[in-house]
Amino acid sequence: MAIKQINIAQPTFLGNERKYVLDAFDSGWVSSIGRYIETFEKAFAAYHGVKHAVATHNGTIALHLALAAAGIEEGDEVIVPDLTFIATANSVRYCQATPILTDVSPGDWNISPDAIRQSLSSRTKAIIPVHLYGNPAAMGEIMKIAKQHNLLVIEDCAEALGAEYNGKKTGTFGHISCFSFFGNKIITTGEGGMCITNDDALAERMLLLRDHGMNRAKKYWYDDLGFNYRMTNIQAALGVAQLEQVDNLIAARDAIYRTYCQALSHHPGINLQEVNKQRNVNWMFTLRLTGMTFDGRNEVIALLKEAGIDSRPIFYPISMMSFYQDLKFTRGELHNSLKIAQEGISLPTYVGLTDTDIGFISSSLLECLNKVIV
Ligand SMILES: Cc1ncc(COP(=O)(O)O)c(C=O)c1O
Repeated sequence: MAIKQINIAQPTFLGNERKYVLDAFDSGWVSSIGRYIETFEKAFAAYHGVKHAVATHNGTIALHLALAAAGIEEGDEVIVPDLTFIATANSVRYCQATPILTDVSPGDWNISPDAIRQSLSSRTKAIIPVHLYGNPAAMGEIMKIAKQHNLLVIEDCAEALGAEYNGKKTGTFGHISCFSFFGNKIITTGEGGMCITNDDALAERMLLLRDHGMNRAKKYWYDDLGFNYRMTNIQAALGVAQLEQVDNLIAARDAIYRTYCQALSHHPGINLQEVNKQRNVNWMFTLRLTGMTFDGRNEVIALLKEAGIDSRPIFYPISMMSFYQDLKFTRGELHNSLKIAQEGISLPTYVGLTDTDIGFISSSLLECLNKVIV
């Protein structure tokens, strides 16, 4: 009998997705003009209780657009976590500025406020905290540091739509916050992204730069060097339908989180991300296999694959990448990001995964652990 294949992630379309996408298609407005774009932006801003939302073609360029609108440029430094998806740091380099790779906390795996203090210099202009795997960073302390040093905060919420810190939604702490709607995210538009802000001037600047720098009142007159970072009406149609479902999608992810925790959290070889003042949205159920090396962890991933289970490694620290080897990118020690990266593995997490699936994945993981010598 063929073994069941369990994907690491898959999108969930339970509402008006098909209807709205077909409507956008039938309307003929398939590019970046169309009513769904404004509807999506308005609904997304309302969901966060902020004034402005600017939709983009993906989450990476949302980060670049935010940094460019904030005037980050050559000679500036931006503090980013060492343990994150590469786009967080790359977007800083797209502005010719220097990302300073900063260690994470061993508990919540997010950028460490103490390490941020060590990364500061007279050139620091901004901090990009990332809410890794849907678990909010220590926004209270991060905003305090930013205020003390007059720094901009751009939250990377790519993985954390709907998460909360101290009862307040992630994305509502920073000056600008950026989201991703890639196919494996909390909601998807295929590819897609969004920047949100309460700052009128930053919003206006993002709208300008998103559309080639074209003057918003004078067509084909360009005020500045901009980009084509627009979202299409078809993407936005999918986004409107997905956002209608967001509470259900997050509740379903919560249930998956609880079932995984019941099965795995008490195992002595397993460590989970700490949740303190945070409401985690369980983007991807990720855990540490205590004491693992990269090779051991990768063997576990290979064994799970043989059992039909798709898993994936935690992000490798950005400081390990060849094009980040220059000493200018680091200031403090990066012990925690390396240790967590060696031990970290993400398990299948998507709406539709059953308790039976989770039971099978968990018992398979424990079996694999017994086979892999640490
Ligand atoms: C933390 C983080 N930042 C940025 C991005 C970039 O988003 P996108 O893939 O939509 O470009 C991702 C996407 O996976 C991410 O996980």
